Amino acid sequence: MTQHSRRNILALMGGAVVGGAISGLGLPALAASKEKQSAPTDAQLGERFQQNGGDFSWKPHKLDPAEVAAVAHAGFWYKGYGCGYGVLYSIVGLMGEKYGAPYKDFPFSMMEFGKSGISEWGGTCGALLGAAASLALFFPRKERDAMIDELFRWYEITAFPVYGPAPGTTKVEGPLPTSVSDSILCHISVSKWCAASGFDARSAERSERCGRITADVAVKPLEIIQKKMDGSFAPTLQKSEVYAGCTVEGCHGENKKKWDHSGLKGRMDCTPCHTGSKAMQDKREAHVPTGKK
Ligand code: HEC
Repeated sequence: MTQHSRRNILALMGGAVVGGAISGLGLPALAASKEKQSAPTDAQLGERFQQNGGDFSWKPHKLDPAEVAAVAHAGFWYKGYGCGYGVLYSIVGLMGEKYGAPYKDFPFSMMEFGKSGISEWGGTCGALLGAAASLALFFPRKERDAMIDELFRWYEITAFPVYGPAPGTTKVEGPLPTSVSDSILCHISVSKWCAASGFDARSAERSERCGRITADVAVKPLEIIQKKMDGSFAPTLQKSEVYAGCTVEGCHGENKKKWDHSGLKGRMDCTPCHTGSKAMQDKREAHVPTGKK
């Protein structure tokens, strides 16, 4: 792109760059123009944002779910790269091993950021992050949203872990306790499993539990991708009853004809956070640490 057209786009996006930057942020101040300007069209913006090969241009290939599960589990343990890496490698990396470029050139190590709900923050389960990314690599939002609904709802209601690693392939052998998280969040998923199993969140057993979930979660987007390739993908899972009750049918969102006194973002099951369960009561102001008054 020429300097000239880059300047045109800047002008289109926010008027002229007035007076340098808002202090601290380094962002151009919005021009206080009295003339009504129209927003740039996608065609105009495309001069900058158009992508090599076009958007969503990579095509998926079919893979063996058993191989994907084993590779996902191994990828979880590889250098401690974790769940997001394990899932994305097991799908896109395996396509690279079998079909070469462009899949093999993906910088997979970047997916390490998904570990523990993004760099230890306990947000969205990193395995789901890898799974959602693997769908987003091939399918635009219009097709993908229903796939993510299916994947995330399945995660909320499934008793994990399911995968059993072959003997000699892992540090913690044998069966592990399972739990249903009702949540896509790493923090809630791990906390509920620790409460159910008695293992600490920093234990080797908890790591292995997440390694096995990495295998479980990898197979789900693969199944969705393969059904999509066959033209047979259709959502099978209902929205959470509470989500549907509170938002679709209820007051907080989609049904604007009802009271709608407070809309919200989110499709998560509301129960883990809004039930006032024992773990969700005030543990900060009213907290009594063990052994102290
Ligand atoms: C991960 C935890 C979590 C989940 C899941 C969650 N919420 Fe919330 N929600 C919160 C927190 C935290 C706040 C902010 C509370 C505050 O302002 O003190 C909040 C605020 C709200 C508010 C506005 C405050 C109020 O009390 O009126 C509404 C409405 C709400 N949530 C509804 C829902 C519904 C409906 C769902 C399910 C679709 C949901 N939430 C899922 C944690 C959650």
